[in-house]
Amino acid sequence: MRYDQAVNIEDLRTIAKRRLPRFVFDYVDGGAEDERALAHNRDAFSQLRFLPRTLVDVGRRDSCASLLGAPAKLPAVVGPTGLNGLSWRDGDLALAKAAAKAGLPFAMSTVSMSFVEDIARVAPGRLWLQAYVFTERAITDAIMQRALAAGFECVVLTSDFPVAGKRERDLRTGLLPQQKFTLATKLDMLMHPRWLATVATRRPRFVNVERELGPGRDVNSFVGHGMFDATFDWDDLKRFRDRWPRKLLLKGVLRADDAERALAAGVDGLVLSNHGGRQLDGAISGLEALPEVARAVDGRLSLFVDGGVRRGSDIAKAVALGAEGVLLGRAPVYGLAAGGEAGVAHAIAILADEFDRTLALTGCPDAAALHRDLIARG
Ligand SMILES: Cc1cc2nc3c(=O)[nH]c(=O)nc-3n(C[C@H](O)[C@H](O)[C@H](O)COP(=O)(O)O)c2cc1C
Repeated sequence: MRYDQAVNIEDLRTIAKRRLPRFVFDYVDGGAEDERALAHNRDAFSQLRFLPRTLVDVGRRDSCASLLGAPAKLPAVVGPTGLNGLSWRDGDLALAKAAAKAGLPFAMSTVSMSFVEDIARVAPGRLWLQAYVFTERAITDAIMQRALAAGFECVVLTSDFPVAGKRERDLRTGLLPQQKFTLATKLDMLMHPRWLATVATRRPRFVNVERELGPGRDVNSFVGHGMFDATFDWDDLKRFRDRWPRKLLLKGVLRADDAERALAAGVDGLVLSNHGGRQLDGAISGLEALPEVARAVDGRLSLFVDGGVRRGSDIAKAVALGAEGVLLGRAPVYGLAAGGEAGVAHAIAILADEFDRTLALTGCPDAAALHRDLIARG
């Protein structure tokens, strides 16, 4: 099957699985430990059911949304994912370009394999920077300053990464933590010539981080052990707030009391997230956290949700429960792995079409009509 024959995101995942060597597919697809949080993210969406309104004039529909006060074609953002260049050469650029063409913001990961400046050059759309807080804070600061200069409108500070989750698939293939590939992994790469042709044999490199290390510093001295700052706390968040003049989101919040603290620290919004089930296995999903957090913040923060969004109807459910929008993690990356930029565009088009159908079938002429009463209780 070609990427453009995929009728849903699961089809794109199937193509990605075939096209990628195992260590790349497992990096994208996998979660932490027993992958309960990963599976639960999908279940949380499946368990919610619509209570559709009937006989509403839905002859003209509008899927547009306002995200952080600016328009988007859909209440969705192409979210931050690292190492996209493993799925397709210059994968970050492909994701950014496809997002811009589809009218969605793109959030670039700190551990992107493309430079901040290159993304800004090729993608004329709305750009957000996801930032990890590194033990060497100067590196995080420098990348943020470069994003500021390049016109990025928002920083998404990830708070659920004091240490890396235990991703057992990556431990088995040898991708993480130190890229010591097993013989089986090396053979597997050779068995995927089409992947080799589109990716070349570049080793995964965190180019933005490396540039800040300066000449003569070995990236291995930094990447891996002790890279992420486990001391990052609420006082630090306030300091980040003071230094970053544009929109600031905190990603990785799952509790209403933490949402209140984030509000007090001056953030503009939250991404309710368990990191796609890649960090704390057994954590609740962002979707599950949404109703309580929405009640607590009562419109004072922009709320985004991620984890398990594979259908346009999932986007509708999150919006109905009070989210401004969702972040898409794996869905566009499966598209990328299946067909490069065109594959990402296809993934977004699938979700946009499903979202539009969901609006029609729930009796909503536009995304603003998605309210809590459309979701069945219990
Ligand atoms: C391959 C991959 C890499 C990721 N890299 C990052 C990252 O660098 N920074 C970050 O904040 N989140 C990262 N995430 C988490 C996503 O931003 C998002 O929270 C998650 O993927 C949402 O779940 P979903 O994949 O089920 O949509 C990554 C997720 C995946 C699948």
